[in-house]
Amino acid sequence: MRLDRFLAETTELTRSLAKKALQRGEVSVNGVVVKQPASHVGESDRVEWDGQPLALVGLRYVMLNKPADVECSARRGLYPRAVDLIDLPKAERLQPVGRLDVDTTGLVLLTDDGQWSHRVTSPRKRCAKVYLATLAEPLAGEALAEAFRRFEEGLLLEGEEKPTLPAELVMRSSHEAELTLYEGRYHQVKRMFAAIGNHVTALHRESVGPLSLGALALGEWRELNDEEVAAFA
Ligand code: URA
Repeated sequence: MRLDRFLAETTELTRSLAKKALQRGEVSVNGVVVKQPASHVGESDRVEWDGQPLALVGLRYVMLNKPADVECSARRGLYPRAVDLIDLPKAERLQPVGRLDVDTTGLVLLTDDGQWSHRVTSPRKRCAKVYLATLAEPLAGEALAEAFRRFEEGLLLEGEEKPTLPAELVMRSSHEAELTLYEGRYHQVKRMFAAIGNHVTALHRESVGPLSLGALALGEWRELNDEEVAAFA
């Protein structure tokens, strides 16, 4: 990797500030000051900036319990972004793996590993996502039997051509529905309940594949361990 890029990857310097630091003689490679931004460094080289050793960070994987009024988007908008809650160096490189609506709470994964992200979100991988939806109207009796059937068979959402993949519905109480999806379409849970004449007043994602929030409180995050990352191989 070019030395200026290595500096931009491992410090808060931009590529042009890295070049300036190089010109000022602040950077050494294996104990020797190097000023050329285009010189190459490899894994075995010891790079220091102002005497501080620098190391590339590997790919990172994070789980967040997203509060409401936080956006899962890469761009800055009206609300803070999920990535703004992650207190890691260069956190802005992490991308949410799929999205939750701004008013939805719960489990969001973030990573800078695009392939891993694809494995989690691709409907072909059939990764289960469990949501807890609070409903405006009670769901019981005939209406519940109908909802089971339509969710299990797959239903056509407004404006779409393909029916939803089979989804599993379990009622925890008359107004609280646990819905397991194996895909992630736009506003899918809210639209599925709207399609059966109900309305979601609150939505929380409890788990994605084998990962659940555990003791993580709203607004808290943690890095995944190797086993958790490998679970989506
Ligand atoms: N379905 C929705 O309607 N909203 C979400 O945030 C996630 C799934």
